[in-house]
Amino acid sequence: MDVSVNTGIIIAGGAGFIGSHLVRHFFASGRHVLVLDNLCRGREAHIKDMLGDGRLTFANINIEDTDRLTRIMGEFHTSHPVDVLWHMAANSDIPAGIADPDIDLRDTFMTTHSLLTAMRRIGLVRIAFASSSAVYGDHGPDTPLREDTGPLLPISSYGAMKLASEASVSAATEHFLERSWVFRFPNVVGVPATHGVILDFIRRLKTDPRKLDVLGDGTQRKAYLHVDELVAAMLFVVERSTARRNCFNIGPLDDGVTVRSIAEDVVASVAPDAAIAYGQEPRGWVGDVPRFSYDVGSLAALGFTPRLGSRDAVRRAIDEIARQEGA
Ligand SMILES: NC(=O)c1ccc[n+]([C@@H]2O[C@H](COP(=O)([O-])OP(=O)(O)OC[C@H]3O[C@@H](n4cnc5c(N)ncnc54)[C@H](O)[C@@H]3O)[C@@H](O)[C@H]2O)c1
Repeated sequence: MDVSVNTGIIIAGGAGFIGSHLVRHFFASGRHVLVLDNLCRGREAHIKDMLGDGRLTFANINIEDTDRLTRIMGEFHTSHPVDVLWHMAANSDIPAGIADPDIDLRDTFMTTHSLLTAMRRIGLVRIAFASSSAVYGDHGPDTPLREDTGPLLPISSYGAMKLASEASVSAATEHFLERSWVFRFPNVVGVPATHGVILDFIRRLKTDPRKLDVLGDGTQRKAYLHVDELVAAMLFVVERSTARRNCFNIGPLDDGVTVRSIAEDVVASVAPDAAIAYGQEPRGWVGDVPRFSYDVGSLAALGFTPRLGSRDAVRRAIDEIARQEGA
């Protein structure tokens, strides 16, 4: 992609776990970066070391506020013409969205709608959007989930609002966008951790190092990708895939690891004497897809293969998150 250091990058959700890695990447490459985040789940601390520089602008904004968003994005775009807007903002707490679907409506869908509206008003034409394996729904463990697998029948409101967001990005690509990238992530691990099973286990064990209660019977199996490889994969795809609409599963080559294996690895690392108590159900919560097989053939065909398998990504993240939590 033809970019000069003067061009700008906008990262919605840039104070969050994955977004802050993108901020760090573009900042290090000399770009001007605008972060849009209301810190509902992200932290200013994740980007604080870059804030004094003048090349990083942080707008503490609820992205649903389309008029204010348009003003802020417009001013930035005028001084630093933006080539890609990276949309990483969402409700990342899936069980919270199942308890109250309005959270997903607002933070997962309305953020997308509002960003697309602002982009249209100020003439931004490229978006990279963080979607999720949750859009597929539950096809069972034996159906490899490819980008063209259907029907897409999400079983969580989070997945539903991601699918609605994908649909809006697709329509916008017909109307005014020049190019769009939709990335369907599996579970992403690493630091700064804001949520997820490893952080949850470590925090529980810090509170009570004698016992770890696990949601579900531990047989849930999922693919895990380390955040460094996720970011590398997205940047690789944005550089190389030139269709008007681009949709990629991003994930490791394997079928993942079980929650039981993660619980055992966390216990071994931070509280070796803890007893692990499993639940009865073969899933963590209603809306959780307990096992799926993720096809990353399109990513591999483009030339990107993650080096870490799920188990190694999880083990590396356990060390990193234990350090983050002082455990
Ligand atoms: N981490 C994963 O395992 C995973 C898996 C699949 C998809 N994703 C997607 O990747 C993206 C990044 O996820 P993450 O793990 O970094 O989550 P995160 O919660 O750490 O980051 C999301 C950021 O968006 C911000 N945000 C949310 N609603 C907002 C609003 N209305 N206005 C302004 N800011 C708002 C939050 O404050 C947070 O900083 C999300 O879209 C998520 O759905 C993540």
